[in-house]
Amino acid sequence: MAQPMSATNPFLNFPYGPIQMECDAKDLIVEGEIPADLSGSLYRVGPNQRFTPRGDYHLFMGDGMVHAFHIKDGKVDYNNRWVRTAKWKLENREARTLINPMNPFECDPQYSDFVFTDKDGTANTATVWHGGRLLIMEEGHPPYELDPDTLESIGSWNFRGKLGTAMTAHPKVDPETGEMVFFAYMATGPFSEDVMVHKVDRDGILTESIHVPTPYSAMVHDFVVTENYIIIPIMPITGSLERAMEGGPPFAWEPEKGVHIGVLPRHGGKTEDIRWVEMDLSFAFHFMNGFDKDGVVTVDACQFETPPLFPTADGESTGQSHPYLSRWTIDLNDANPRATFARIDEFESEFPQCDPRYSGREYRHGWYTSPDGELQGTVSENDNVFNVVGHFDHETGAVDRYSCGQAMTSEAIFVPASGDAAEGEGYLLSVVTSFETRTSSLYIFDALNLAAGPQAKVHLSHCVPAGFHGGWRPNA
Ligand SMILES: [Fe+2]
Repeated sequence: MAQPMSATNPFLNFPYGPIQMECDAKDLIVEGEIPADLSGSLYRVGPNQRFTPRGDYHLFMGDGMVHAFHIKDGKVDYNNRWVRTAKWKLENREARTLINPMNPFECDPQYSDFVFTDKDGTANTATVWHGGRLLIMEEGHPPYELDPDTLESIGSWNFRGKLGTAMTAHPKVDPETGEMVFFAYMATGPFSEDVMVHKVDRDGILTESIHVPTPYSAMVHDFVVTENYIIIPIMPITGSLERAMEGGPPFAWEPEKGVHIGVLPRHGGKTEDIRWVEMDLSFAFHFMNGFDKDGVVTVDACQFETPPLFPTADGESTGQSHPYLSRWTIDLNDANPRATFARIDEFESEFPQCDPRYSGREYRHGWYTSPDGELQGTVSENDNVFNVVGHFDHETGAVDRYSCGQAMTSEAIFVPASGDAAEGEGYLLSVVTSFETRTSSLYIFDALNLAAGPQAKVHLSHCVPAGFHGGWRPNA
């Protein structure tokens, strides 16, 4: 019999706590009108712990669940499924948790070596539709493939045997060629000092893997791909087996190691072509976009002074830290360039997005989620609940915002109105969870007029727990 989850761990309680069911809901109730030209599926991915966890529960270790809103002809169907990872299947059979993916010492003794050999991971972070496959990523393992309509689990996907590493949760797809570029950190073993960069063509064939030694062993969550460069930011959340063996945190914030930004030529660049550019101390989980022009690389990051959710090497909290949009500049015409950054927005922001047709290109429009400060939550590192969707205009510096009030917004996904629509012309989709009804709704905004409020709200009768990332698959 399933046991109650902790009542005190914020990540096991609303709005993060798991739901205990899978369903197919047809023709959801729509308030307002679904735009006639919006046709496709929005996926949301997040942790949704199946059974009472073993040991300390961290949000990053929950079993992955995918939620899908299938939009066509003004109607919306919904389904949700856990990803049937190896961990999920074993535990489902025994109706209890056997594995703590972040601590082998807290696994059932019979499964103490599971985390060292597992190929599926938790599939709880992000998704990409590429090469005719719906892939679910969690950066410590290869991706996992689902059926895009039924969400039925297909299995771990290693690009026909060619992928020998994990895959970041933030691959980049070139809008012109369809090429997908991604990487894995600590690529050749636990806490190794390197990354592996991979390229996959538009048909899903892995064409090239480039090994890049790094200045130290670092957790690297996201990166940037421009027309001519692959930018690998090494920021000092370090990994250390030695520290872990001595009872310290395996991953920790070590500011003295400094920021080193790897710049690899995108076309023909090999291991020996990487250039390392230093920058003042900072941290970012996510990048809005980046581009290069005349040898100058520009990167937009949701930047922290110190990262939340990771301890110092002594195991202490880094304290509260809030992210703001910041623009990095790297002038590669300089023989010894140093990267600089400058904050460009007054509002706190995370989960940045751009129009995917401008990924890696000069661009004007970006979107993010943000708090209005009126709704406080239970997470000590940042108790501002993110309840705002925002648009940042890089040309004018103007910000367009809409607050959803007593509710939490998910990462807002931009969908172009059509293939040839102007940049930014389209819709912004966010799954919004009401703190009053404890149910979730899909909000659909005009992406260039957020302040007008959603033009449609699509209601579920249950909650989509706060998750990480989403993605869009257009209908054929
Ligand atoms: Fe992420």
